[in-house]
Amino acid sequence: MPLFCRPAARCLLRAATSKQRSWTRCYAPGRSGSGQWLITTPIFYVNGPPHIGHLYSAVLADALHRHWELMGRDAGYFATGTDEHGLKIQMTAASAGTSPEQFCDHMSAKFRELFTQAGISYTDFIRTTEPRHKQAVEHFWTTLRDRGWLYQAHYEGWYCTVEESFLAASQVTEHLDAQGHKCMVSLETGHQVHWTKEENFMFKLSEFQEPLLKWLWESKAAITPEPFHQQVLQWLEQDLPDLSVSRDRNRLQWGIPVPDDSTQTIYVWVDALVNYLTVVGYPNTHHAWWPAACHVVGKDILKFHAIYWPALLMAVGLAPPEKIFVHSHWTVQGQKMSKSLGNVVDPGACFWRYSVDGFRYFLLRQGVPERDCDYYDEKAVKLVNSELADALGGLLNRCTAPSLNPKGSYPGFSEACFPKDPASRHGRGSSKALAEDYKLVTLVKDLPEQVSGCFERFQIYRALECIMDCVRQTNGFVQRHAPWKLCRKDPEQQQWQDTILHITLECLRIYGSLLQPVIPATADKILTRLGVNPSERSLSNLNFLSRYYGGKCPFEGRRLGPDTGLLFPKLEKQTDAAGILKY
Ligand code: MSP
Repeated sequence: MPLFCRPAARCLLRAATSKQRSWTRCYAPGRSGSGQWLITTPIFYVNGPPHIGHLYSAVLADALHRHWELMGRDAGYFATGTDEHGLKIQMTAASAGTSPEQFCDHMSAKFRELFTQAGISYTDFIRTTEPRHKQAVEHFWTTLRDRGWLYQAHYEGWYCTVEESFLAASQVTEHLDAQGHKCMVSLETGHQVHWTKEENFMFKLSEFQEPLLKWLWESKAAITPEPFHQQVLQWLEQDLPDLSVSRDRNRLQWGIPVPDDSTQTIYVWVDALVNYLTVVGYPNTHHAWWPAACHVVGKDILKFHAIYWPALLMAVGLAPPEKIFVHSHWTVQGQKMSKSLGNVVDPGACFWRYSVDGFRYFLLRQGVPERDCDYYDEKAVKLVNSELADALGGLLNRCTAPSLNPKGSYPGFSEACFPKDPASRHGRGSSKALAEDYKLVTLVKDLPEQVSGCFERFQIYRALECIMDCVRQTNGFVQRHAPWKLCRKDPEQQQWQDTILHITLECLRIYGSLLQPVIPATADKILTRLGVNPSERSLSNLNFLSRYYGGKCPFEGRRLGPDTGLLFPKLEKQTDAAGILKY
């Protein structure tokens, strides 16, 4: 039985249908008016410098964005940025002896610099301290208020500053601190909580339990991967209390004041989530994009994106985002990354060690969204050496080397050597091809579709696994036929050698094209070496081995691009015992 039909959920849905609650006037689900789409990263807290976990969120979104663009989808908008309001930042700036404004400018610039270095192809970098964002948040708030979704109440409960949230009694537990004093901490994160009493604005979140269930029931792939979809359904089967959406201004000054009530500051999560609308011009031009939005988020912020955000959107009359892609976390040598453990990994040091593409490749190849992944130097070195330097780089170097390809051109394909007609495959004519070779051709022919499917399902690691499997099999093909042993003076052997190289370069053209979203600079190096022009790099019409399939090949006979040396220099093992690249 699918989870959305479990008794509790079913009963909630029935209640929704029978009562025709007020939310039915909320929103009309559907695509954006213009077919354009929006992809976002979370906006990053600026209370510390970026680390590899932040980079991972950004690289995932970047690879998706690049893939969609290369597939020739309608215009896409890729937004990232920094989340700058809140008590945590107010306090960090104070302890650094600087103003929050200066502190945010400094830290936000660090994220922007990192993303430029990492080749994150964003179209917009939003900062929540910008005037355009303040206007969007104020408009969002007044719409919530005017539609009757806000009310004022005395609120008291356990407040966690680090999480900027009130927690229910069931979410906290007693704990002894380092000095042996009793304190209360969040069960989930272990952060200390304090009993807090305030007069707050509340959002009627409880009224959205049924609409949220209905949304997830109708959009089964809205939250991907599936275990996270199930997790949200489980949350929704429990009580969904109203949400406190403002804080006393005396406690929190670093934030956007509630319109018409300067004693209150808008809750940072409402402020932060609205960034996804700000970037598409809310409240004026967002309809061109919304709801064709795809949010890439870490599992720690799933509840905010899969419950609070869709409910808030419905409340202002907008549809929930089309997709929420969720990823797990990176640990370092088996441990959670944390400042106190001193194991926070600096992405800049990783770029220096493995190169930008080497580290992007490592994160996307090893990062499996469903589960936490562990980083340590030896693992990254092994992967980059075996797959990028040896398998891919070796294949390119071998098949473009002057010893095998003295003319420096894309070799010709001979139908006689590699016939399409199965009857002529077996020993007749000059056919040299073996059954495994035909298997390889079929595998590579199907690869672009397979890779696209993986990207659509947010399984970039799986796409890379498929590409690498083909690279290995192509190496096997070259090894099997040992073109270096053929004598170019014999016309038949020369034709066969050219055909082997033609097929290999065609395979490499497909791999180079498909790898563009993941390792853009290296893919460019491969394609340039093969003589593939920038206008010939789209993923929508790759036309693999068209000569074999009876068409023309625009590359045959074309001059190869310049030889720029090794595709990927091999990395040495690190001598330092720890092997962690820290700040
Ligand atoms: N500011 C909020 C997001 C607001 S979005 C409207 C926030 N910021 S964050 O800087 O703490 O986290 C940003 C992203 O980095 C999240 O997707 C989070 O999951 C991700 N990561 C932070 N640490 C991580 C790891 N150790 N591993 C992988 N990603 C992790 O939350």
